[in-house]
Amino acid sequence: MGEIAAEYWKRRKGFILAAIGSAIGLGNIWRFSWLTYRNGGGAFLIPYFIALLIVGVPLLILEFLLGNYFGGSSPKVFRKIRDNLEIIGWIAILDVFIIGTYYAVVLAWVFDYIWLSIVYAPQLAAGQLSASTLFSNLVSNSWLVLVGLAVTWFVTWYTVFRGVSEGIEKASLVAIPLLWILSVILVIRGVTLPGADTGINWYLTPDFSKLAQGSVWIDAFGQILFTLSIMAAPLIVYASYMPKKSELPNSAWITAFANCGFSFFFGFATWGIIGYLMSLNNVASPEALKIPLGGGGLAFITIPTAMSRLPGGPSVAAVFGLIFFLVLWLAGYTSLISIIEPVYAALRDKFGVTRRQTVTAVTIISFIIGLIFVFKPNMIDPVDFMVGSTNLVWIVLLEAAVAGFYLGVKKLREYANPYAELKLGVWFDYLIKYAAPISMAIILFYGLWFTKSISPVSLIVMVALLIAAILVTGLKWKTELKETVTAEV
Ligand code: TRP
Repeated sequence: MGEIAAEYWKRRKGFILAAIGSAIGLGNIWRFSWLTYRNGGGAFLIPYFIALLIVGVPLLILEFLLGNYFGGSSPKVFRKIRDNLEIIGWIAILDVFIIGTYYAVVLAWVFDYIWLSIVYAPQLAAGQLSASTLFSNLVSNSWLVLVGLAVTWFVTWYTVFRGVSEGIEKASLVAIPLLWILSVILVIRGVTLPGADTGINWYLTPDFSKLAQGSVWIDAFGQILFTLSIMAAPLIVYASYMPKKSELPNSAWITAFANCGFSFFFGFATWGIIGYLMSLNNVASPEALKIPLGGGGLAFITIPTAMSRLPGGPSVAAVFGLIFFLVLWLAGYTSLISIIEPVYAALRDKFGVTRRQTVTAVTIISFIIGLIFVFKPNMIDPVDFMVGSTNLVWIVLLEAAVAGFYLGVKKLREYANPYAELKLGVWFDYLIKYAAPISMAIILFYGLWFTKSISPVSLIVMVALLIAAILVTGLKWKTELKETVTAEV
């Protein structure tokens, strides 16, 4: 069986927008500004920026280089580095696959909220229905969630099914600019609301004393890893679709800044709105609202509550509710694409399977596994703790250590530099070899140390993941990778 004909992005812009699409997700909207508020406001931007510079951008560059240099998905990359490292690649692929199964369920709620916030705008505005009741009714109404899930998967499936340049690239070229435009509208509305300045002060007024707390730094480094989707899966594959001899380092800088800039910018919408709620309720601190300031609670309860009380009545509330949930859905949709594509690419690399059938099968299986989370939404948190947070850290730790000490980053650096707009110096080697693994080790240790008990659900998922990774690693390669293993390295 031969190799499947290579696919490429049509333009560099398409690659960068797709990478930004993977990075910008639910976390930029409901996690970043909340972390900033909790961790010292504007002062948090210091550890955040440091984390971005010393591990975020270097790891992003590393993933771009690994994918492009070895021309494939993570199992192929790790196998080409050394035969018995292939399993690391599969762990990353299975991990991202599991993330997709519940990420899509959250997106299903978001999708349903796009129209629920229109349909229920009058009742919300009249105070006959509270946003928290609406949310718990939705989550317990599995049929509605199933509709949202089916639509979300259908659109994602169709995008990835169409291929790299016809599907993912075209979708990103539309979705990412649209996401920005709609966000600008939300930010303008947010910052011009009465009381917005109070909210924004809570978001950004620096409290430098917080920087003395270790947890603030852990949050900054953890968020950088998460927000850039650094996990040895999506970005490696996206970069493998750039032709060889392409510019890569500057593309990584652009991706990182677009992503982090979006988070910072969107925080003005969120905190303008929170300030407005504070002034409506005459309270002096955000906590006194007794309403969630981050996470799903922010999106599904706090924002809809504020929307329902916007000046202008129910029709205005409906329009802004629609815009907000559309932004959230677009952000998540472009991330979900970047979850399915690497799963397909890994199977293609090893088994020589074709795109259309594989993408269809992976989507259907993801949908079916996702039913667990539709009917048991409480399982999302423990599963996410494992695959969406803890695993990312040690996978990346291994990735950086393998690249740094085993493969040799110097080789990658010299590969990229002739075509790079921003050249990589030896600093890059040091950051990958030392800064990245050491910070990952600290986050991992700290995160597990402060987790009182790891739930059985987390452990079961972990064991299942490892068994599956061992099994798939043990299967025979059906493509002609073998002969190229040593030739190119
Ligand atoms: N970056 C995404 C966000 O901020 C989350 C994420 C982490 C992700 N790893 C991923 C998305 C892998 C897609 C694929 O919400």
